Amino acid sequence: MEQRTDIKSLLEWYIEAGVTESCGSEAGLVTVQPESKPAPSAVPSATKGGAVQNDEILYQRVPVASRQAISNLAQATPEACKNARELCDKALSLEQLREIVENFEGCALKFNAKNTVFGAGNDKARVMIIGEAPGADEDRIGKPFVGRSGHLLEKMLNAIGLNREEVYITNVLPWRPPGNRTPTDGEVAVCLPFLKKQIELIKPQIILLLGGSAANALLDNNEPISKLRGRWLEYTSIDKSKIAALASFHPAFLLRNSAQKGKAWVDFLRVLKKLKEN
Ligand code: URA
Repeated sequence: MEQRTDIKSLLEWYIEAGVTESCGSEAGLVTVQPESKPAPSAVPSATKGGAVQNDEILYQRVPVASRQAISNLAQATPEACKNARELCDKALSLEQLREIVENFEGCALKFNAKNTVFGAGNDKARVMIIGEAPGADEDRIGKPFVGRSGHLLEKMLNAIGLNREEVYITNVLPWRPPGNRTPTDGEVAVCLPFLKKQIELIKPQIILLLGGSAANALLDNNEPISKLRGRWLEYTSIDKSKIAALASFHPAFLLRNSAQKGKAWVDFLRVLKKLKEN
């Protein structure tokens, strides 16, 4: 009976702390949203033995120190942003940047992710494609756009005569948000320097922004993708150079709304036209 009470209070604490999902098979892997509260000073004693099965949901034990660390990290956004920017300033190549991102500990998403999903493709690409964040397949494999959305993206690229080795594909976030939830503003702000640095190093002629998160993050606005898509916009790189940017629907959205594929096709044709002009 006492054990049941302790388990209940642990679960209540997880919910209160903003835990949205558990993952992995080892104790210590939980997901905490950035707004989460600091951990209480003590863990209910009967939960110290390990994971607890509750219907289909597996809630796992996290040591107090880890919970406090994740919680602190999630709240340290301004400092983490500054840290990310300063680290990016030091990167002279994509490889150096990849290492920086892989070692970065200022984004709480990293602690639940299986892999850091850095950009992939041609480092001299004329076209850079930016999505939102890795999904389950990308998290497992460690490469961007390798799941269902990636297959659709590949087909669309092929249809305008491009393949994924010719372009560079990346995401706003290098770590999967649990349950594929929309990234928070804080997560985007912390990870944006990594994306901007990739753009500065690759110097693409065209940036194709897939979905509202990528378009809003890079163009620094809040307009819905339905309004932003389909017209040429401009992105100012860190080195002040101007890059043509086009927003379009995210492939995951197209998989759910096939009636919108025609509009995305028009957008891809715009990219092809621009490539031919330059
Ligand atoms: N969706 C994205 O935005 N990026 C990926 O890499 C995969 C799915």
